[in-house]
Parts: sequence; structure tokens; C-alpha cells
Amino acid sequence: MRRRDAVGLDEHTVSQTDRTREHLIETYRKKAKHYDITSRLYPVPGYPQRTQRLRAVQALGLRTGDTVIDMACGTGLNFPLLQKAVGPGGRIVGVDLTDAMLACAQDRVKANGWGNVSLVQADAAGFDFPAEADAILSTYALTQVPECAEVIAQGTAALSAGGRWAVLDLKVPGSTPGWLAQLGTATVRPFASIDQWIMRRPWEAIRAAMQEGLADFAWTELFFETAFLAVGSRGRSVSMDPESSSPSAEMGG
Ligand SMILES: C[S@@+](CC[C@H](N)C(=O)[O-])C[C@H]1O[C@@H](n2cnc3c(N)ncnc32)[C@H](O)[C@@H]1O
Repeated sequence: MRRRDAVGLDEHTVSQTDRTREHLIETYRKKAKHYDITSRLYPVPGYPQRTQRLRAVQALGLRTGDTVIDMACGTGLNFPLLQKAVGPGGRIVGVDLTDAMLACAQDRVKANGWGNVSLVQADAAGFDFPAEADAILSTYALTQVPECAEVIAQGTAALSAGGRWAVLDLKVPGSTPGWLAQLGTATVRPFASIDQWIMRRPWEAIRAAMQEGLADFAWTELFFETAFLAVGSRGRSVSMDPESSSPSAEMGG
């Protein structure tokens, strides 16, 4: 009988997942030093990545003093936008699996003199989200995490009431010509598991998990359906009405 781990994956899947993860870390170790430059060509030259990032950060509705988690933050390309939104009184927690990507993020933090950024080396799957975060962001990363649906659920549980989750990532277009489909897949090609990525359709798992767990969920397809922005907020608790027999509840999606 196959044993299952904490998030319900069986032994076979776990060892396959471990191998994929090791490969992924190795790949990003090699990419880290030049990531900021090469990401401008990501997934192809001229791709409106900066506009998409801006849109994702705006969707978080951040206010001065907020705490935001940047899940799989890489070298911290989102940090300038997040800093602008939360100000020096706010807090940014950058989480990533790859040490070399975090080292670049640390250089960015130091170069900018930001005193409000904490960096954590961790796997998104099983990450212990700090409680009462105001927002969680993940850009161009979560579809690479096999347990993406669990990450959405765990993040949601840690959000403060009304706190927002935003995921920006690539996907395979539904009904577009082959050359456009390549845009959505170019990014994951280095991980050798492109076929698995396409078959797994992780953007669908992300969509379902966010739709289930978050209120006012919104899904927007971007740039010829090669990317998506998914956003929602943690429902506000409804307090128990002493006159009523209704239990207190949290409103999801
Ligand atoms: C394409 S980069 C995106 C980085 C950054 N979010 C950005 O927008 O530039 C993907 C990042 O996801 C990280 N990553 C992949 N799988 C992860 C996991 N399971 N847990 C945490 N980080 C992960 C990689 O280390 C890498 O830094």
C-alpha cells in the first residue's frame, strides 16, 4: 500500500516531487545571478511582465503599514512595488526554496537599505505562514509547486479577515495558435517536466482552490490567455447573533 504524506501525496509521488524539486533548485541556482536581466526576456522578449506585476500588486489593495508575503519571491523583483505600497512601517516577508535566488534578494534589500524585509528559505508546500498577514502575492512561481492548491489553502488560513491573495502566473492558452501556446510553456521548459506541467494544468488547481476558499474571487486571463491573475480575499468572520441559532461562519467564495 502506498503511504501518504501530510498533504495527501503518496510515496511514489513524493519521491518524484523531491526529484523535481532538486532539479528546480539546481536550475535556479544557475539562473540566479543573471535572473534580473534574463527575466526581461521572460517568457519571451517583449512580454508585458512589468505591467502584469504592477497589476498583481495593485490587486492586493495594500495600505501603508501592511504585512505582505511574497511567496516564491525569487530575487525580489516585486519588492520595489511592494515597498511603495506598504511603506517603511509595513513588512515584507519573502519566501523561496532556492538559496541562490534569496541571496540575490538579500543583495537587493541591502542595496536599497530596506529594514522591513525578512527573507525565509522554505518550500511553499508546508510553509508556516505567519498569522494575520494582510496579503499574499505569488508571481510566476506557484504553477511550479505541485502542492499549489494546499499552498493556497494554508495561505488563506493565515490571512487576516479581508486579507488578499493574488497569484500571477503563466498558463497554456485554451484556444490559440501553437506559436502563442509556446509563450505559456517557454518558462517551464528548463525544468524538463513541461509535459507534466501541461498535463497537470496547475492553473486550474489554483483557480479551484482560490474559488473555494476566498471571497470575491476574480480570475483574469492576460496576454492572449498566456497568463492569469487570480485574486480573492479571506472572508470576514460573521459573529454569532445571540438571538439566532445560526452558528458563526466565515464567508468563502
Ligand atoms: C520564475 S521564478 C519567479 C520569481 C519571482 N516570484 C518573480 O516574479 O520574479 C520562480 C521561483 O519560484 C521558486 N520556487 C519554485 N518552487 C518553489 C517551492 N516549492 N517553494 C518555494 N519557492 C519555489 C524558485 O526558487 C524561483 O525563485
